Amino acid sequence: MSDRPKVAVIVGSFRRHSVNRRLAEAIAKTTAAKLDLQILDYGEVPLFNQDHEADPPAAVVAFKDAIKAADAVLFVTPEYNRSMPGVLKNAIDWASRPPGQGVWSGKPAAIAGASPGALGTGAAQVDLRNVLTAINVAVMGMPQIYFVHKDEHFTPDGGFADPKFQAFIEGWGDKFAAWIAKMNG
Ligand SMILES: Cc1cc2nc3c(=O)[nH]c(=O)nc-3n(C[C@H](O)[C@H](O)[C@H](O)COP(=O)(O)O)c2cc1C
Repeated sequence: MSDRPKVAVIVGSFRRHSVNRRLAEAIAKTTAAKLDLQILDYGEVPLFNQDHEADPPAAVVAFKDAIKAADAVLFVTPEYNRSMPGVLKNAIDWASRPPGQGVWSGKPAAIAGASPGALGTGAAQVDLRNVLTAINVAVMGMPQIYFVHKDEHFTPDGGFADPKFQAFIEGWGDKFAAWIAKMNG
């Protein structure tokens, strides 16, 4: 399966029991035949300081290199106060700098998110999509993933319990693979 596109997964939560990380892992498992999804560890990326953008800390260099090496990016974000978490915006900002050395332009991407609340990260995803437009990320328009988290929505082995949702995510994986091929064409 070496021809599967490599997708860097950026989870917008560092929490050990993050429901977004759980969603990301279930998406990775469900779409494994078509996509090679790897969750990035960017917990050491410091707060952005423009004084250091020309010679960034090692964690930032590693984060940028991981994005560069990936065929695509999947953002899996919580919603904090009707927007994306600061850790996610901070990492996006670092990797957009300095001018001419950002890693985002033209990168195919998709967005997903999980919340225990009924709105399922809709507002955060809209804000994230706006930000990604500003740095020329090629975000897939449809289908979109808004996941209301409940323990019973997962199988014990980390898949999706509802066969209809499982099929939806499989179809989403097919469409994202096609989007990546088209954008990287
Ligand atoms: C600072 C903060 C703000 C939050 N604001 C929202 C919100 O606007 N909408 C929402 O659905 N959930 C909100 N939540 C609840 C999160 O959806 C919930 O904590 C979720 O589990 C976070 O994702 P994670 O488990 O991946 O860390 C908020 C949580 C925090 C900590």
